Amino acid sequence: MLASSFSPPPQAAKIIPWLPWMRRALSLAALGEGRTSPNPLVGAVVLDAAGQLVGEGFHARAGEPHAEVGALAQAGARARGGTLVVTLEPCCHHGRTPPCTEAVIGAGIARVVVALADPDPRVAGGGIAQLRAAGLEVIEAVAEEQALRLNRAFVHRVRTGRPLGILKWAMSLDGRTALPNGQSQWISGPAARGWVHGLRARCDAVIVGGGTVRADAPLLTSRGRRVPEPLRVVLSRSLDLPETAQLWDQAVAPTLVAHGPIGASAQRKGEARAMATCALLDRLGVERLELAQCEPAPLLEALAARGCNRVLWECGPELAAAALRQGCVQELAAVIAPKLLGGLAARTPLGNLGLEGLAQVQSWRELERRDLGSDLLWELGIPEPPADHAGLTTMGVGSARPGSAP
Ligand SMILES: NC(=O)c1ccc[n+]([C@@H]2O[C@H](COP(=O)([O-])OP(=O)(O)OC[C@H]3O[C@@H](n4cnc5c(N)ncnc54)[C@H](OP(=O)(O)O)[C@@H]3O)[C@@H](O)[C@H]2O)c1
Repeated sequence: MLASSFSPPPQAAKIIPWLPWMRRALSLAALGEGRTSPNPLVGAVVLDAAGQLVGEGFHARAGEPHAEVGALAQAGARARGGTLVVTLEPCCHHGRTPPCTEAVIGAGIARVVVALADPDPRVAGGGIAQLRAAGLEVIEAVAEEQALRLNRAFVHRVRTGRPLGILKWAMSLDGRTALPNGQSQWISGPAARGWVHGLRARCDAVIVGGGTVRADAPLLTSRGRRVPEPLRVVLSRSLDLPETAQLWDQAVAPTLVAHGPIGASAQRKGEARAMATCALLDRLGVERLELAQCEPAPLLEALAARGCNRVLWECGPELAAAALRQGCVQELAAVIAPKLLGGLAARTPLGNLGLEGLAQVQSWRELERRDLGSDLLWELGIPEPPADHAGLTTMGVGSARPGSAP
């Protein structure tokens, strides 16, 4: 009896009927995963005036038509008087394609249902305002949380000027990433390694430090799951890198070697080695990027400027700790193998985080926990800084920058 007398609050009553269509639009949006950067993932459906599905679309790649435009083209004249259900606020600016608001108004759409307002300052509510000014009904915040989760990398990049960072490592049950003698391949099983290839395919760049290049000679590709492959990035201070490495083969995937200023002090120890590596990389056609400081944060700013929304840190403990300390990691992916490696001197996933008291340590939020063959995958998201610590770089990750990951 109680259930039948319940009536949802007015805002919820407006939203609920559109949830199934928005879920459909969200699953369309996800089809573009790994290919739309620097753009967001967007999906759209068009219903005619009688509520029948007449068009669907998703943003497949930067530079290609936006989701709304594809869905409206499929609907044609049947869109007149109908509803557009779209996961992100339609754009209202001239970019690589004309404003979507013009296409929506021109198609005679009567109602627009939106999941998430576009944080891009060129839009930021302007698209919705334009639609309302043209007399269209706009219903906002339908499945907003799911849409935010789907586009968290894009939102993070727009708000902070850095791509969202995922730090991934594989370790034994006793927290070791190598035997005391340094042997580390492979701790995790084939299912976990296959999952990592899929994870790389969802990222725009995969980053390691010089230590991992020297120790593991990694390939760092998605094994063809993403075309083109994500950018492989090596951050090195010394540029003491091997002459032959799988990463130097540019036919397989592009590689970027980022380093600090060189040549300023030719007498400095190791400078000759650095110069020789630069010459080698230039000869092999491996791109180099000279950063003012060889640190994770400026590297991420450079990668954001190149259109990266999401990067994967696949480095060893030294660079991983630096990335955490500089607020460059918003998500963790730990693969835990049911094995014991032991050894007091054996490597662990992280170097020093600079913590001085347990009160500074925060718990990461669980995003997902599941089996990968006999291994366990535990994915976690950045902890919210406690109110009284706001502005502090707690555990090095609660960056004081505005708008850390949603
Ligand atoms: N189990 C796993 O999931 C996993 C994943 C990756 C690596 N590993 C293991 O990690 C070990 C390598 O550890 P590692 O710590 O040497 O590797 P790393 O963190 O990948 O590399 C460290 C290097 O990063 C470079 N770097 C550049 N800027 C830096 C900065 N601001 N702060 C810190 N580092 C910076 C330096 O390279 P230069 O020395 O060239 O200047 C530094 O030596 C290997 O044994 C590898 O097998 C394990």
